[in-house]
Amino acid sequence: MEVLLTADQIHARVRELAADIRRQYAGQPFTVVGILTGSLVFLADLIRQIELPLRIGLIEASSYRGTATSAGTLVVQDSLLPDVAGRHLLLMDDILDTGRTISTLVEHMKHRGAASVRTCVLLRKIGRQQVEFEPDYTGFSIPDKFVVGYGLDFDDDYRHLPFIGVLPDGHA
Ligand code: IMP
Ligand code: MG
Repeated sequence: MEVLLTADQIHARVRELAADIRRQYAGQPFTVVGILTGSLVFLADLIRQIELPLRIGLIEASSYRGTATSAGTLVVQDSLLPDVAGRHLLLMDDILDTGRTISTLVEHMKHRGAASVRTCVLLRKIGRQQVEFEPDYTGFSIPDKFVVGYGLDFDDDYRHLPFIGVLPDGHA
């Protein structure tokens, strides 16, 4: 598998993002909200570098069913989300592709009474966005290829890979 981003490159960038985020949220009631399942690895690494008191929330949104690589209907499941009223949220996802998932969830969090909602994505695919949306923190911009690893899956496989790789043709 072609490696697009090595584990070392990812960790260096995660440290930079954590430093920026720490400056933004110092002194505020702060909750990091990870979008399941893809943000899991990124969230676990990032929160350990932030060095601020914080809470963790999880929300599930899935638009890719099985092996389909084009989006279906977005299903949101927030029973794992603690009370976010009055809290400053950082919503995290693995990748910004069309922008549908994260923009929908920002609105969802505002309706839950969050004091503010910012967004952080590890990857942003160039030339794919369909919804106008600017994340507050972006790890890397990447070409329009289907990538896996560091939380990102193809049909729920490959999430555990410590690097981000491009799936060979014929598998996506
Ligand atoms: P969006 O709603 O189109 O922005 O899609 C975001 C979601 O699509 C992410 O949370 C991923 O789960 C999934 N996704 C988009 N591109 C890729 C990819 O290249 N590899 C793995 N998952 C992807
Ligand atoms: Mg996914």
